[in-house]
Amino acid sequence: MKPQPDLPAALQASIGQRVDLIDTPSLVVDLDAMERNIQRMADFARQHAVRWRPHAKMHKSAEIALLLQRAGATGACVQKVAEAEALAAGGVNDIYISNEVVAPPKLLRVARLAAHLAACGGHLAIAVDNAEGIERLAEAMGAAGSADGIDVFVEIDVGQGRCGVPPGAPAVTLALAVARHARLRFAGLQAYHGRAQHLPGAAERREAIAAAVRATEHTRALIVAAGLPMPLVTGSGTGTLVHEAASGVYGELQAGSFLFMDADYARNEREPAQPAFEQALFVKTQVISVSDSHAVCDAGHKSHAIDSGLPTVALLPADRSLRYANGGDEHGLLYADTSDARLPSLGHMLWLIPGHCDPTVNLHDFLIGVRGGLAAGTVERIIRVDARGALT
Ligand SMILES: Cc1ncc(COP(=O)(O)O)c(C=O)c1O
Repeated sequence: MKPQPDLPAALQASIGQRVDLIDTPSLVVDLDAMERNIQRMADFARQHAVRWRPHAKMHKSAEIALLLQRAGATGACVQKVAEAEALAAGGVNDIYISNEVVAPPKLLRVARLAAHLAACGGHLAIAVDNAEGIERLAEAMGAAGSADGIDVFVEIDVGQGRCGVPPGAPAVTLALAVARHARLRFAGLQAYHGRAQHLPGAAERREAIAAAVRATEHTRALIVAAGLPMPLVTGSGTGTLVHEAASGVYGELQAGSFLFMDADYARNEREPAQPAFEQALFVKTQVISVSDSHAVCDAGHKSHAIDSGLPTVALLPADRSLRYANGGDEHGLLYADTSDARLPSLGHMLWLIPGHCDPTVNLHDFLIGVRGGLAAGTVERIIRVDARGALT
């Protein structure tokens, strides 16, 4: 086990301790489950001959990004320049900003980071979806005097209705605009369908990605016809990776949530071919008040995000089912609605499965890594959330 300098004393002292001694509320990673998820993803990517570049906007940790790279991931995706800077400071040297950046001061940071990563033998890539953004990026690269350049993906909107130009001719125009600049390398297309990830039915996800694949394939053919090389199509997430991987069009998967999973993904109908990713992220909480009608725990929505619904209560072998209801910032209400349920007693420890993993991780400075399971394991490692709050 590597030494962990600079940890707060209480966290330092928790290493090697039994899981029941972890203070509450805390964000805990079941390391065994996480490693099984990594193995499943690595096997899946190998079987489909696609690259995987997990989205680090989810875990926000350089240590985890490096762990994923050691397992075969190409590098890390991020959404924000500050996330890229935080990961680079932690030693990650292959980073893709899968998002549009247009503010000149931020673009200067991008250009400096590209030069820094190139000097470390790594590289930086970024997405664009408009001509003005391309000109500004080229200007910033020139101002930073970077000789190495940057990889640029043109983002097409394949159904999400967020960033991206329409597929087809508008994407070709942008690809040609990128290729005109000496310091910009046209790297291919980003075709991420975010809305499809969370569609509850397997058939509706399959149809949404089939349409995205058709639009991407058509755009790719037009770009090739315009005389440009088409190195890569990148995109996909945990909900639909089965379809992009099988498409023959996508060469890289950006899925991030597969690593930890959450209650939202768990609710959706599973595509049979999807690897059986398991829940690895939990908020540990304890009961601080009990009445005849309900119990109260010490984890409210400052401990977990509620944008995709409330957490569910994980069932360990000794637990009975309980329903979590919103008790505000710092409290959760627990109800025993089913015939097999009984309210927990004062001090009882519970494990919540957050509704949405990404914004939940962003609420915490550290992830507590547990080995040997939640019932009787021990704390093995404290993982720093390096890019917590890295929004710029
Ligand atoms: C551009 C992009 N790629 C990939 C992902 C990863 O999706 P997921 O975490 O659902 O696997 C996201 C998540 O929002 C994203 O915005």
